[in-house]
Amino acid sequence: MPEHVMPTYKRLPVSFDHGEGVWLRDTDNRQYLDALSGIAVCGLGHAHPAVTAAVCDQAGKLVHTSNLYGIELQSQLADRLCAVAEMERVFFANSGAEANEAAIKIARLYGHSKGITSPAIIVMENSFHGRTLATLTATGNRRIQAGFEPLVRGFLRAPYNDIEAIRTIASNKNDAVAVLVEPIQGEGGINLPDADYLREIRALCDEFGWLMMLDEIQTGMCRTGQWFAWQHSGARPDVMTLAKSLGNGVPIGACLARGAAAELMQPGSHGSTFGGNPLACRAGLAVIETMEQEHLADHVQQTGQQLLEGLRKTLGDAPGVREIRGLGLMLGIELDRPCAELVGRALDQGLLINVTAERVIRLLPPLIITTRQIDILIEKLSVLVRSFLEE
Ligand SMILES: Cc1ncc(COP(=O)(O)O)c(C=O)c1O
Repeated sequence: MPEHVMPTYKRLPVSFDHGEGVWLRDTDNRQYLDALSGIAVCGLGHAHPAVTAAVCDQAGKLVHTSNLYGIELQSQLADRLCAVAEMERVFFANSGAEANEAAIKIARLYGHSKGITSPAIIVMENSFHGRTLATLTATGNRRIQAGFEPLVRGFLRAPYNDIEAIRTIASNKNDAVAVLVEPIQGEGGINLPDADYLREIRALCDEFGWLMMLDEIQTGMCRTGQWFAWQHSGARPDVMTLAKSLGNGVPIGACLARGAAAELMQPGSHGSTFGGNPLACRAGLAVIETMEQEHLADHVQQTGQQLLEGLRKTLGDAPGVREIRGLGLMLGIELDRPCAELVGRALDQGLLINVTAERVIRLLPPLIITTRQIDILIEKLSVLVRSFLEE
């Protein structure tokens, strides 16, 4: 592995050369079924013709100017995003962490606008929000924070899926101004909250005048079978963050806001050199258009159901499988033991998967996966998991 790259990742011994749809080819031309999409990034699969054409065309015209000037493609993407997300304004960044940084800054501005000098954001245990200092502080995982202290002030923590804990914070503290939460925890182990959880958070935010801020970086852009996961519950947030699938691999992040939250950023409040440049926005527009044309949310509902049912049928009764859960094409298979080594074994069998929270096999296949490819995935995975559990 490259000596001059900082070893922040424990990398698998494979490099990919090219891809098409759900398939990737390594530098030895071996083929892999990608059931991870670069961790929920390539929702439209690899080398989607519409995205490729848009990016190539834009690269030949104009890649970057600056946010000092008008950027027509940025305005167009903001319009399209606000239409599908039922939001009013967008700040464009380059990654998920930066989108969340913008949300955190909006929450602080909101607090100050109400005369609260040390505003706090309620965040959850087991959450993941990024690796910048503020977002790793918001993240509910000590291993991600260790070594980077002092952490950032202004966060209060509650267990995930525990509305009473948030209510208790509300009764104890008066400096909370916002709740930041994932509609489904991704890195934390594909944890789905109770059906009412988001609606109850919405009600608490309304009661206490807090901003409801959803991190849809992993769940957004049709991943769960709706454009955004909150749409399953109808609990519309005040602030929502996106990245990952928005550019299908071209780096882009976005922080969307509505109501009072949409009015707080002013010239000079925040910025980004690259954020929302013509190339990234053209990619984002191509992604949204393609998702619309291909009715991808509906397709994900069907294929997600097929995958969930298929896995439950083939693995549900296997001793050692605790639970198979998920929504749309965001699925987890929780085992009763650590199973990180399954990632390497799957790789040997030409399958890309991930293990998170030590015991949860995480599946995030490209959203364009066909029913036939879902069958292949179920077949490959069940053989692998069964033989692992039988050892
Ligand atoms: C829910 C969630 N929030 C934030 C992030 C951070 O995104 P990025 O790695 O683009 O900074 C991730 C990345 O995995 C994520 O899953």
